[in-house]
Amino acid sequence: MTMEQINVGVIGTGWCGGIRSRASAESALVSDLHIAEINPERLEEVSAECRVASATTDYHTLLARGDVAAVMISATPEHTHYAIARDSLNAGKHVLLEKPMSLTLSEADELVELAKRKNVKFTIGYSQRFNPKYAFVHKSLKEGTIGRAVSAIVSRHITRSLGDRISGRILLSPAAMEATHDIDFVLWCMEPARPIRVYAQSGYGVMKEKNGLADTVSIVVTLDSGVVFTVSAGWTMPPGYPNYSGTWIEIVGTDGMLVVDDTHRDVILNTIDRGIELPMSSMPGEFVGHVFAGPMYNETLHFLEAVAYDRPVMVTPEQARQAMEVYMAADLSVATGEAVSLPMTTAQIAQAAPV
Ligand SMILES: NC(=O)c1ccc[n+]([C@@H]2O[C@H](COP(=O)([O-])OP(=O)(O)OC[C@H]3O[C@@H](n4cnc5c(N)ncnc54)[C@H](O)[C@@H]3O)[C@@H](O)[C@H]2O)c1
Repeated sequence: MTMEQINVGVIGTGWCGGIRSRASAESALVSDLHIAEINPERLEEVSAECRVASATTDYHTLLARGDVAAVMISATPEHTHYAIARDSLNAGKHVLLEKPMSLTLSEADELVELAKRKNVKFTIGYSQRFNPKYAFVHKSLKEGTIGRAVSAIVSRHITRSLGDRISGRILLSPAAMEATHDIDFVLWCMEPARPIRVYAQSGYGVMKEKNGLADTVSIVVTLDSGVVFTVSAGWTMPPGYPNYSGTWIEIVGTDGMLVVDDTHRDVILNTIDRGIELPMSSMPGEFVGHVFAGPMYNETLHFLEAVAYDRPVMVTPEQARQAMEVYMAADLSVATGEAVSLPMTTAQIAQAAPV
């Protein structure tokens, strides 16, 4: 098969955008890498590290380049996602957008429609689908290894420093920012079943005083297949490593059960200076010399391959929109104390939108 190299852009080259830039720069699929970043020091740093073809502080300049086929959008704060994605799709680029795809469902719907109209690939960074342990769960369920799925539990916690960083830039809940990954993952595993009801409650602790947000959220989702799944997510764990995350998954089926320990207790680093740490445990992952420990590198390559070889993307925008409706329903359920039936009504959607 012949393959033409593509030129790609990364908009927002902080933590995740830095990973996406380096993965692109290292890929044989990519000819030229272009970056846009409003922080001049970071722009300089990533330009040098990734030997970029062009660097700008204005993403419109990047989008105006006719030779750039695809862009990855990794900017923060999260309210930037919708406008940058809209402009990128309008410029005819294939787009990988970090979650959340937007702040409201109507913006998400608009982006889904726009991508269709422009006939470009559009995907959202639900990176955990590229974690081999998660892929194993998905494969097992698709192959019926544990029979028919009955229920699932996912517990996810990240460190307080990261929780503070995320909640310091935008007031989105742990449902929108953390549980979202697990909602997407379980919905993907349980397809074609669709969610019909969501009930959620929040636990308030150290975050409340800082910004009014919850420390943890517990979400119960009922699917039309009868499967019930629970996602419990929090962001106030003490430090274990920079940006540490720990996840535990249990899936019950009619003929078996799957338990996945993704708590990253398999490598223990103990130093006089910093005590015990659990490395290679952040959600996107990290470079370890010549290899990458974590899902974001492969996720980036998958997107580049989808564009270069004209293959379908792993996470469709419709799936991301469905995950978004579930976490918004969870936030609404927390606010009202009532279960929320899906699809949400127009009034509920308006009520669930962040203010
Ligand atoms: N999939 C995952 O595992 C995962 C993990 C962490 C974060 N995320 C998501 O990825 C996104 C990025 O998170 P991060 O931790 O990399 O953020 P970050 O703050 O480290 O990086 C964001 C960068 O965007 C830049 N920026 C802001 N506005 C811009 C603009 N208009 N044009 C160009 N650059 C701009 C900022 O200067 C910053 O360098 C978040 O929305 C988050 O939800 C996903």
